[in-house]
Amino acid sequence: MQWTRQLRYKPYQAWPTEYLEKIEKQATASTYYPQFHIAPNSGLLNDPNGFSYFNGKWHVFYQAFPFGPVHGLKSWVHLISADLVNWKKLGPALLPDSKYDAQGVYSGSAHQIGDQLFLMYTGNVRDQNWQRHPYQNGAWLDQNNKVTKLSLPLISQPEQTTDHFRDPQLIEKDGKYYVLIGAQDKKSLAGRINVFTSDNLTAWKNLGYLNFSADDLGYMIECPNLVTVDQQPVLIFCPQGLEHEILPYQNIYPNTYLIGSQVDLDSASFTSQSNLALLDYGFDIYASQAFNAPDGQAYLISWLGLPEIEYPTDAENWAHCLSLVKRLTIKNHRLYQQPVANLKKLRQQEHQLTGQASGQVEKTLAAKTTNQYELKLEIPADQQGTLWLFRDSEKAEGLKIKFATGKVAKILIDRSQTGQPFAKDYGQTRQVALNANQPLHLDIFVDHSVCEVFVNQGEAVFSLRVFPSASANKISLAGKQQINYNGSWWNLAKSCF
Ligand code: FRU
Repeated sequence: MQWTRQLRYKPYQAWPTEYLEKIEKQATASTYYPQFHIAPNSGLLNDPNGFSYFNGKWHVFYQAFPFGPVHGLKSWVHLISADLVNWKKLGPALLPDSKYDAQGVYSGSAHQIGDQLFLMYTGNVRDQNWQRHPYQNGAWLDQNNKVTKLSLPLISQPEQTTDHFRDPQLIEKDGKYYVLIGAQDKKSLAGRINVFTSDNLTAWKNLGYLNFSADDLGYMIECPNLVTVDQQPVLIFCPQGLEHEILPYQNIYPNTYLIGSQVDLDSASFTSQSNLALLDYGFDIYASQAFNAPDGQAYLISWLGLPEIEYPTDAENWAHCLSLVKRLTIKNHRLYQQPVANLKKLRQQEHQLTGQASGQVEKTLAAKTTNQYELKLEIPADQQGTLWLFRDSEKAEGLKIKFATGKVAKILIDRSQTGQPFAKDYGQTRQVALNANQPLHLDIFVDHSVCEVFVNQGEAVFSLRVFPSASANKISLAGKQQINYNGSWWNLAKSCF
C-alpha cells in the first residue's frame, strides 16, 4: 500500500470492515505478536496516554492508527486493569470526530475530578493549506467508561509558540489545576515546556515556559511529565534534536529525565542539581508517561517504539507495543525502575538455574523456550561473559548480552545477530557502565519480539524489540573463565486481551 496523505487521513468510517478484519488477522497470526504487552489489534500504536487510576481500576489509553503501520489519523484506544498486569481492551475512546481534533486525537493525560476521569488531549487540526492548528481539549470519562467531549477547546496555540504545541499533562495541586504542554518557541525555534493554570478547568492562564534547564534542549519537547518520586519532583520528557554533547544517546530521539530539588509551577520553575539522564538504555523507548497513583507511588509506562523508524512488522500491517508498567524510586540520585510486583502472577512453572558455565563453551540454560518468559539471573563479581537470548547456535543467531563485573564493569546489548536487524543507522549495540566488582542481577522479560532487561533492581533498564527466526528460542551462557550462575526462569501467561 502506498501511504499517501489522503489514505492516512481517510475518515475511519470510510475503511471497509473486511479490510480491518483482514489486517487484524495478520497481527494475531504473527509470531512476533506480544502476549503480555499491550499491542494494537492492527495498525500502529504509539504513545501511552491517560495513564491513571479511577473507579477502582487502572486505565491506560494508547495512540492508535488502526489501518496500517504508519502515522495517520490518530485516536485513543482504552484499556483497563485491576493489577497493572492483566489488561482488557475496551476499544476506541476518543475518535477524531470533532472540529477541534479532525486530523487526529493526539497525546494527553487523565486525572480524576469528582467522580469522573478528566481526559486532556491535543486535537490536531489542519486547514485547507495543511497548516496545523493544535488545540488542547477536554473530555469526561464516566463510571461506565463513556466519554463525552467538551464542545470547545480549553487552550489554543499561544502567540509565542509555533504549531508544535501538544501533549498536555494535567496536574492538580493545592486545589488548582496546572498543565504542562510540549512546545516549540516561535522566536528561537527551541523546545520548551509551557505551563498553564486554572481554578475551574475552563479559564486557563499562561504561566510561561518552565524554567528547568540552562541547556539548549533541541527544537521540540514532546510528552512532558512531572511526577513525585520519593518526595522529589522528577521531570520526564522527550527532547527532539538534542545535541549529543549535552547527553550522549543513539536513538533517533531520546527519552530523558531530570530529578529536581524543588518545583513551583506558579512561577514555572523546576530547580535541579542533577544532570539530564537517559530514562532507558535500550533501542526502542519513547513517549513515556508517568503518574502518581493514589497509593503515592509513581508508575511509568512507555511506547516501545520510535518515530520515523521502520520496523519488520510493518510488513504485517501492525507496529509497536507498550512496555510493562514500572514502579519508580530514587536511589543514589538516580531513577530506579522496577517491573510491578504483580507480574509475578504471570509466572508458570519455575525452572531453576544453578551451575557453572566454563571457558568459552556455550552452556545451554534452556534448550527451547516459547520466547515468552521471565529470566532472573545472578552473576558474581569479577566475571566476563555473554548471555544469549533468542539463540539459535547453528544459525549463529541471537541477542547478545555481554557483561563484565570486574574492575571494568558494564553491560552491552548487541542485536546485530537477531533474525531481522532494523534501524541499523542508529547502531546495533547499547551499553551502560556499572559499579566495579559487584555481582550482577538481571531480571529479563521476553515476549516474542520484546525484551526488557532490568539491571541490578532497576538501576538501569534496556527496552528493545527483536525479530528473531522461529528457531531462535534458546537461552545460553558463555563465560571467559568459569562462571557460577544462579537464577530461575518461568514461562509467563498471556495477560493482554
Ligand atoms: C510522540 C507524539 C506526540 C503526539 C503523538 C501523535 O510520539 O509525536 O508528540 O501527540 O505522538 O501521535
